[in-house]
Amino acid sequence: MLIQKKPSWFIPENEATAESAYLNRRQILAAMGFGIAGGMGILPSLAEAAISGIPAPRNPAYQLDRDITPEDDATTYTNFYEFGSSKNIWRKAKRLKPDPWQVTIDGMVEEKIKIDASDLIAQLGDQEERLYRHRCVEAWAMAVPWTGVPLEKLVKFAKPAAGAKYLRFETFLDPDIAPGQRQRWYPWPYVEGITMAEARNELPMLVTGIYGKALPNQNGAPLRLVLPWKYGFKSIKSISRITFTDERPVSFWEGLQAKEYGFWANVNPAFDHPRWSQKTERLLGSGDRVPTQLYNGYAEQVADLYADMPQERNLFF
Ligand code: MTE
Repeated sequence: MLIQKKPSWFIPENEATAESAYLNRRQILAAMGFGIAGGMGILPSLAEAAISGIPAPRNPAYQLDRDITPEDDATTYTNFYEFGSSKNIWRKAKRLKPDPWQVTIDGMVEEKIKIDASDLIAQLGDQEERLYRHRCVEAWAMAVPWTGVPLEKLVKFAKPAAGAKYLRFETFLDPDIAPGQRQRWYPWPYVEGITMAEARNELPMLVTGIYGKALPNQNGAPLRLVLPWKYGFKSIKSISRITFTDERPVSFWEGLQAKEYGFWANVNPAFDHPRWSQKTERLLGSGDRVPTQLYNGYAEQVADLYADMPQERNLFF
């Protein structure tokens, strides 16, 4: 793909090159004869997803070592490339209609299921709130209350075959709603994957809410994944398909630039991104810089998952 070698979207926000990267993409778009997404109209806000159980009781087992990020920062500074490559896409994301929302569960499962997101969550049991750190590979970070259910409940519900080794997640595909999906050099739809062992760990959550409210569209309504020990790009938004498989999924960013975005993508201050350091992170809200923690501070819960793997693979690729 022509664009892969161009300056990519993953320029850290605090570097002045971000704007030039954006301009470059505009020029490329113009050269390819595409319109600019920013020119499209915005539909009025639609009803919030009818997922019940929000707000949910907080699970006290998950504590933070830092302040909760102000809600305004976490909900207006977001990555959702389906709506454009800037952080400021929350207005454009109002076009998404998260209710009703069909989710397909298929692949190596007892029975393929097509179910509305609200029914799925109701089937999985009570929701809970957890405070988690979130670390983007771009070196910004936040700490937020998520509402959802542990992913292991979905695994049980899906009844996977013994041979299933991975979960592959897919985001909706609808360029009429998500103008970013007209940018054909990206391998749409957005895909992510984790192993079955990771999915059965206590930390991953299928999330429906943030700050005690239904997820706003820009944060991944109606249903997203949250994997707090991995770089944020693994936490796929607005999931429409979950497939159990014995083949390792190729994720969106890995498909675009495998040398920069690995499958494992575990947070690691000692392993720099090829184009920037991962030793520190900038907190949304205060703007403070703090040291990055191995596995984003969740080593106690997840280090065992990677005990038999070589350092480099385990921590990033
Ligand atoms: N999921 C989809 N479908 N599209 C995206 O562009 N961006 C990822 C991830 N999930 C992304 C996505 C990245 S890079 C990050 S850091 C987190 O979402 C950001 O989550 P937030 O915007 O809710 O903070």
